[in-house]
Amino acid sequence: MNIFTSKLLAWYAQHKRDLPWRHTKDPYTIWLSEVILQQTRVAQGLPYFNRFLKRFPTVKDLANANEDEVLKLWQGLGYYSRARNLHKAAKEVTQQHNGIFPSSLKELLTLPGVGPYTASAIASFCYEAPVAVVDGNVYRVLARYFDVEIPINHPKGIRYFQELAQSLIDVDKPSVYNQAIMEFGALHCTPKQPLCTSCPLENLCQSRANNTIALRPQKIKSKAVKNRFFHYLIPFDNRQNTLLNRREGKDIWHGLYEFPLLEADCMLTEKALKLHPNLPSWAAAASWTRFEDEVMTHKLSHQTLHTHFWILEDVKIKLPTPWTDVQNFGVPRLIERFLQKFNR
Ligand code: ADE
Repeated sequence: MNIFTSKLLAWYAQHKRDLPWRHTKDPYTIWLSEVILQQTRVAQGLPYFNRFLKRFPTVKDLANANEDEVLKLWQGLGYYSRARNLHKAAKEVTQQHNGIFPSSLKELLTLPGVGPYTASAIASFCYEAPVAVVDGNVYRVLARYFDVEIPINHPKGIRYFQELAQSLIDVDKPSVYNQAIMEFGALHCTPKQPLCTSCPLENLCQSRANNTIALRPQKIKSKAVKNRFFHYLIPFDNRQNTLLNRREGKDIWHGLYEFPLLEADCMLTEKALKLHPNLPSWAAAASWTRFEDEVMTHKLSHQTLHTHFWILEDVKIKLPTPWTDVQNFGVPRLIERFLQKFNR
């Protein structure tokens, strides 16, 4: 075994966390944990993992759920396409694979939302397939140890790191090697302030020698962040009912619920909003108050949302949703933040 791998495995044996998905080889459980942990830290993902498994103990239970419930349970984790794909894939496994998770890399890759990372994780953790996983942790550890300049978000880099990781795998225990390198990235070789002085690989680490730790892994600049300007109308009729709409289409938050939304190219005043082409017919005659003076900013990966919430009292038509039911809908984190502040 190469020295990198043997030192890494020794570190892992001593420092690994006791995490629930490390006590099972069940592919459904492993898949669930891996989808939740994409773009999510363990501390944040753990309670979601436990709630999902309790509510949906088997892939069949998940397949039979309705999408609104799955999205509600996912609320707060972000990247909601993960939840929609999770649900779709559960249906496929149930309908096309008899409820039994496929075990080959090729079949796993056909499931919605299952890319090379998730497929390799399931194949190696559950079935000891000798395939290396490459996630953000793996990129960072390898880019530093070998001081690789190739950007990780370029096809060349993706190929390079996949092959590099593959060349280092412990073929006798692929599952342990894969967990070890990810755990080392998550706990020791961290993005900021990695623990170099107590690192078992310090004297072999190329970027430590070249003083390039902070520059690795290299990334090419991604596309610019887009600014969007949201104005939510929170209407109340005379019985304290309100209105939520389900978002549809290709934009963010497909399948989640929100209050009626007016979007514009900048923040608008009450007067300007009343001239908005999408102003609902019941809105103009209501009495408007803006909730808080500041604009609420909310950052997504490629967008920054600037938002005002307008409370519209005394709407003259009957609205469908009692205010006390709003908590039962799956809403974006932005709306959740508003609801936490807005007492009624
Ligand atoms: N991050 C992604 N997958 C993980 C796993 N299986 N254990 C800990 N952290 C992870």
